[in-house]
Amino acid sequence: MCGIIGYVGDKEAVPILMDGLKRLEYRGYDSAGIVVIDACGEVRMMKREGKLKVLEDGLAEHGLRGTLGLGHTRWATHGSPSEVNAHPHFSSDGEIAVVHNGIIENFLELRAELEGKGHTFASETDTEVIVRLVEEALKGGAPDLEAAVRASLRKLKGQYAVGLLRRKEPDKIVAARLDSPLIVGLGDGENYIASDVPAILNRTRKVIYLENEEIAVVTADGCRVTDIEGNETVREVKEITWDIDAAEKGGYEKFMLKEIHEQPQAVSKTIMGRISTDGKEILMGDLNVTPEEIRGLRKIFIISCGTAFYASNIGRYLLEHYTNIAVEVDFSSEFRYRNPKLSKQTLVMTVTQSGETADTIASLRMAKEKGCKVISVVNVVGSTIDRESDGVIYTRAGPEIGVASTKAYTAQLAALFLFTLWVGRMRGEIDDGRFRELVDELQRIPAKVERVLEKERHIRSVAEKYYRATNAFFLGRGFNFPNAMEGALKLKEISYMHAEGYAAGEMKHGPIALIDEHFPVVCICTGANKYDKMLSNIKEVQARKGRIIAIATEGDDRVKDIADDVIYVPETVEPLSPLINVVPLQLFAYYIALERGCDIDKPRNLAKSVTVE
Ligand code: AGP
Repeated sequence: MCGIIGYVGDKEAVPILMDGLKRLEYRGYDSAGIVVIDACGEVRMMKREGKLKVLEDGLAEHGLRGTLGLGHTRWATHGSPSEVNAHPHFSSDGEIAVVHNGIIENFLELRAELEGKGHTFASETDTEVIVRLVEEALKGGAPDLEAAVRASLRKLKGQYAVGLLRRKEPDKIVAARLDSPLIVGLGDGENYIASDVPAILNRTRKVIYLENEEIAVVTADGCRVTDIEGNETVREVKEITWDIDAAEKGGYEKFMLKEIHEQPQAVSKTIMGRISTDGKEILMGDLNVTPEEIRGLRKIFIISCGTAFYASNIGRYLLEHYTNIAVEVDFSSEFRYRNPKLSKQTLVMTVTQSGETADTIASLRMAKEKGCKVISVVNVVGSTIDRESDGVIYTRAGPEIGVASTKAYTAQLAALFLFTLWVGRMRGEIDDGRFRELVDELQRIPAKVERVLEKERHIRSVAEKYYRATNAFFLGRGFNFPNAMEGALKLKEISYMHAEGYAAGEMKHGPIALIDEHFPVVCICTGANKYDKMLSNIKEVQARKGRIIAIATEGDDRVKDIADDVIYVPETVEPLSPLINVVPLQLFAYYIALERGCDIDKPRNLAKSVTVE
């Protein structure tokens, strides 16, 4: 996610802006920039690729002075990490500047419209269309920056938190938001905007949380908030009581818990802009694979590690369920040392959060050496795997700070589902009716994940019953077999409790020998198909005094008679159920680790990105 800070007052803006950006560094970024209106009333800016130190060194050489300014750290979503793509972005005359956090879904059509009016764009970003729309609105008669911003925001689809300044109105910052957080900080004779509390907590604890489609005009003397229609709204000033550490986690105790709760956003952002407005097609962007190649595919190989490997296995179930393509999944660390049978009709995919996992990079290079095209599902734009893949499907989970992957996993599942629909449609293997159903249900998933998160207190109470166990099983079938393995990985890596994910049907082939009354067994038994088989697996475990924790569909009365604990989740179609069913597994692991006093965000022996073999 990008970081925004703005200042207007009587002090030099640059030190305040840089300090604020440093306090937002934890959010992850790949470039940064600053813009001020200087004492001569000129708009002056500097932006640099890389860490804030690079920008700081640049500012030390060519200082910017002025008491009004905006700062930004960019987490690339549209356009690679680079100086030219860094914010702020400008009107064609350089007199208006914008910084932005979010995704403008319809930026390509807006860009084409603006190019038709003679605009040439400096960057690949979606953000640049915002400031050019504002410029056009002013040319079209908008009386001031505020009115021009209001007119422009109406044309945007997607999510935004924006801050703008204008040379001709040097005493104000105009800020606005839709589905991307933005606050106004109130000081004494000076005021701020920021995308998150930590940026300004050392300067003020008085903040206004802007609501969706509200516009704030911020001057040194105060702040006026209006709605998108222009009606003034009186907003409550909140007093922040958090300390900095809690503020960076948005008030959550750990980054992992914050990221578990960010999953509805991560999934909706990953879907955003990838379903055509008429709902009839999936927009995958340029994957550098032709429809003929997709139709000629005989095999897809998906390679990955850890949590991404379990997402990949669900991708295999999806692709084999909806298309006639054979799919094989392998650990990157195995694939690269095998002699896999690849051909021109084989598409290789990698799935990776960081895009820097050494074994996955090596496997990607081996596949390309063997003449295969490689498409990757990646969260970090500009990462090695992003740059070396033929095509990329970005998950838009934002930076994932907790070592244990959560929101990146559910975003990967959403991306793999979209890819499956795209391939199935292209190959004529998914009919219109089924396609419509699946697209509609996919768009309901964020709200259904939200509903599971509302059960957090119950899930915590279940976890607290089992935190002393030394072993656990996670059982699932079909799409939820890899999901069960992911649940086991979560528990292992943050609570250090031994856990295994297993195909439920395999229990009788040996593992059931381990079961006794000290052995919690998490059973994912949602969905109609294979339900009865799952119940009989549960009964097998129960007969041996195993403790059953069932993940079941709301309204399922049968399972509660045989399970010690039941966590109910909303119903969905089986292929999408892992996105919902994994949430209780994540929270179960989290609260067991909390009870066990583990270092949840930085588990022992683990790194966020395994860049070594
Ligand atoms: C997941 O919780 C782990 N932190 C780890 O298994 C991770 O998924 C694995 O290292 C792969 O990382 P990547 O997705 O960045 O390639």
